[in-house]
Amino acid sequence: MRVLILGGNGFIGYHLTAHILRETRWEVRGMDLGTSRLKEFLGHPRLKFIRGDIRKHRALVESLVRQCDVVLPLVAIAVPKVYVTDPLRVFELDFEANLPVVRACVRHRKRLIFPSTSEVYGMCPDREFDEEKSRLVLGPISRQRWIYSCAKQMLDRVIWAYGFQRGLDFTIFRPFNWIGPRLDSLDEAKEGCSRVVTQFIAELCLKRPIRLVDGGTQKRTFTYVTDGVAALMKIIENRGHACTGRIINVGNPANECSVKGLAFMLRRMFLAHPNHRGDRKVSRIIVVPAREYYGEGYQDIMTRTPSIRTAKRLLGWRPRIGLREAIKRTLDAFLAENEGP
Ligand code: UGA
Repeated sequence: MRVLILGGNGFIGYHLTAHILRETRWEVRGMDLGTSRLKEFLGHPRLKFIRGDIRKHRALVESLVRQCDVVLPLVAIAVPKVYVTDPLRVFELDFEANLPVVRACVRHRKRLIFPSTSEVYGMCPDREFDEEKSRLVLGPISRQRWIYSCAKQMLDRVIWAYGFQRGLDFTIFRPFNWIGPRLDSLDEAKEGCSRVVTQFIAELCLKRPIRLVDGGTQKRTFTYVTDGVAALMKIIENRGHACTGRIINVGNPANECSVKGLAFMLRRMFLAHPNHRGDRKVSRIIVVPAREYYGEGYQDIMTRTPSIRTAKRLLGWRPRIGLREAIKRTLDAFLAENEGP
C-alpha cells in the first residue's frame, strides 16, 4: 500500500506518518511546507517527503496522486483565531486548494480519505452529533468564525456528490478535538494562535494569565491522538470496503470537560510536574469576553459531543485513553520538548 499524506508535517499528518512507518510495511509519500514535526523521519527508506505548497505545485500533487493508492489531503488552517482574523486565507487553503486534490482523486480513481471536522455540526443542539441525522447549524455571515465549518461542509458535500455521481471511493472522517504531543508549537501559542490545550500549557510556562473566554462553561470532548490514529488506520485498511462512501465521527464522548475545568486541571498537573514543583509565580485564571479575545467575528459552540456508534460498528474501534491521561501526556510531551527533563 502506498499512502499520500498532503500536510504530512501537521499534527495529524505527523502522527499518522509516524504510526505507518513504525507499525506497517506501507510506503508514505508526504508533502508539506515545513518539516518541523517530521524531522526524525526524513531519512526513512519508506518515506518520500517533498517540501511543497499544494496551492502552487499542482502538477506535482497530481502526479503524487497518480502514484499512490490512498490520498489524505490534510492541509488546512484549523485554528479559530485565524478564522476570525483572516477568513479569506481559510477559504483559499481549506477549500480552494483542496478541491483540485479531490478532483485528481476522481480523475485517477484513487481512494480519498478526507478530514472534515467536528465544527461542521456548529451549534447543533443534539446531545450527541450523529453523522446521518444531526443538523448542521451555523451562525450569521458576519460571524466569520463559521467560514471554516462552511468550507469543510461544502467539501464534504462535493466529495459526497462525486461518490454519488462519479463513483469516487471516499471516506470522510470528523476529528473531535484531538490532542497530543506537538498539537501546536510554543511560538504559535505565544501569538495566541493555538488550540485551547496548547494555549493553556503555554500560558502556564510563560507565567501569563490563562484566559477563559466568556467564563469557560463551554465544553469539548478531547480525543487522544493515538486513539484517533488507530481509527484512521482502520479507515485506510477499509476491510470489506466497509468505510467506502461513509462519514465517521472520530472522538471520545466520555472525555467531556469544560474549558474552565480544563484550566484548573492543567494548572494542578503543571504544578505537580518535577520541573515546576515549588514555582513561586503561577498563572492566574481569569475571565475575558469573547469579543476582546477573538474580536467581533467570533461565536462559540457550547457543547460538542460525538456519537461514535458508526465508528464502533464499521471499524470495531473504541477510544481507550481517558481525559486525565490524555491531558497529562500532552502536557508532559510539551514540557519535555520545550524545557527538557
Ligand atoms: C477546534 C478547531 O476549530 C479545530 O482545531 C478543529 O476543527 C476542531 O475544533 C476540533 O478539533 O474538533 P475549538 O474547539 O472551538 O475548535 O477550538 P479551541 O481553540 O481549542 O477552543 C476551545 C474552546 O476554548 C473555545 O470555546 C474557546 O473559546 C476556548 N478558549 C480557547 C479559551 O477559553 N481560552 C483560550 O485561551 C483559548
